[in-house]
Amino acid sequence: MKTIKIGSIGCGGRGTLVKNAHQPENGFIISAVSDLDENAFKEYKELCGDNIFTTNNYKDILKIDDIDVVFITTPDYLHEEMAINALKAGKAVYLEKPMAITIEGCDRILQTAFETGSKLYLGHNMRHFASVLKMKEIIDSGIIGDIQTVWCRHFINYGGDAYFKDWHSEQRYSNGLLLQKGAHDIDVMHWLAGGFTTKVSGMGKLSVYDKCSRRPTEQKGIVEWNDDNWPPLEQKDFSPEINVEDSSMIMMQLDNGVQMSYNQCHYAPDCTRNYTFIGTKGRIENIGDTGKCQVWVYTSRKSAFHDPDIKHQLFPVEGTHGGADPLIVNEFLNFVAKNIKTSTNPIAARYAVATGVKATESIRTGGGLLEIPKLSDEIINYFENGQQK
Ligand SMILES: NC(=O)c1ccc[n+]([C@@H]2O[C@H](COP(=O)([O-])OP(=O)(O)OC[C@H]3O[C@@H](n4cnc5c(N)ncnc54)[C@H](O)[C@@H]3O)[C@@H](O)[C@H]2O)c1
Repeated sequence: MKTIKIGSIGCGGRGTLVKNAHQPENGFIISAVSDLDENAFKEYKELCGDNIFTTNNYKDILKIDDIDVVFITTPDYLHEEMAINALKAGKAVYLEKPMAITIEGCDRILQTAFETGSKLYLGHNMRHFASVLKMKEIIDSGIIGDIQTVWCRHFINYGGDAYFKDWHSEQRYSNGLLLQKGAHDIDVMHWLAGGFTTKVSGMGKLSVYDKCSRRPTEQKGIVEWNDDNWPPLEQKDFSPEINVEDSSMIMMQLDNGVQMSYNQCHYAPDCTRNYTFIGTKGRIENIGDTGKCQVWVYTSRKSAFHDPDIKHQLFPVEGTHGGADPLIVNEFLNFVAKNIKTSTNPIAARYAVATGVKATESIRTGGGLLEIPKLSDEIINYFENGQQK
């Protein structure tokens, strides 16, 4: 069995996900890590041994011939450059969502993967959430008929802690939170509705966190989540520059006729995504998205609020992000080693970003309906064919 050697780029923060890939017993070894902050190496040394190669310059990892695979889990604005360089260096790439912060950036990544033949995989871990998979199974069974409309409300109680104190708060680094958070939700809605957005419009604004007190420019932003950080207007140490929306409402027209709406709020007291899919014979809704949660199915008509016809009870799964992180890492490793068919797809990741980008543009330019640029058939066919020419 050939050992597959792995490099981790951006190994603090979300990079802790990559530790799931260190599986010497299955032939996968993390042998190099890169981060600007050397403290991020500590946990990797404990897991993989002191001999692990460490560097502040990710390009050093790309120069190592026997590294087959890299995970890129750096901030969003670095994805495009790092992914393109890694693909050109012949590495198979696991790239965190959102794929990039512009549509052109996504398309350049896709084109590079197509030209080099290096494998590309996007970290849309929500495709492994038990609640999402249960909703997909119900929709695919046909019990609620043909999906016509989809709504999602995303309440984010940690928005002030996570997205308005560091790079996320600035358009130049994140573009907007319809990419950072919305890319997940839009991707789930596209996947379960069976289409991609062709036109989008939106309204949204920054109306809460711009009123909170800021940290000095020279002080580093500290991101710590705590339910005691409440109410939003009393919080402090926010980024000196905040120019992304803290609430957004968008409407989407899909290529298969389905229509969708998505609402995202970063100052809600609770924390959940609530999707509903309405078909020609019923409707489903998730109550909670990870851990102990439920999927409700309505298939009969009754007056007033009533209990669903079927309640599916779901239970906690071990692993971060509702058990999705170990699953997505294993799917990627098996894609690299055995070419398995994957549940996620770079084309879908690109359309999620493209929808977020155009929705954000609509919000910032008066709410008009904007078209999503299409990809060429050559690129679509390549990725839908499992990245084979
Ligand atoms: N799929 C998910 O559920 C999920 C969850 C959280 C974050 N994310 C994504 O993961 C990515 C990282 O998010 P985060 O919250 O960990 O961000 P972060 O700001 O904590 O950064 C992650 C790490 O990257 C390092 N880094 C920054 N610049 C670097 C460079 N030039 N070279 C090497 N390392 C560098 C930082 O030091 C840090 O350790 C983002 O794209 C985010 O959207 C995905």
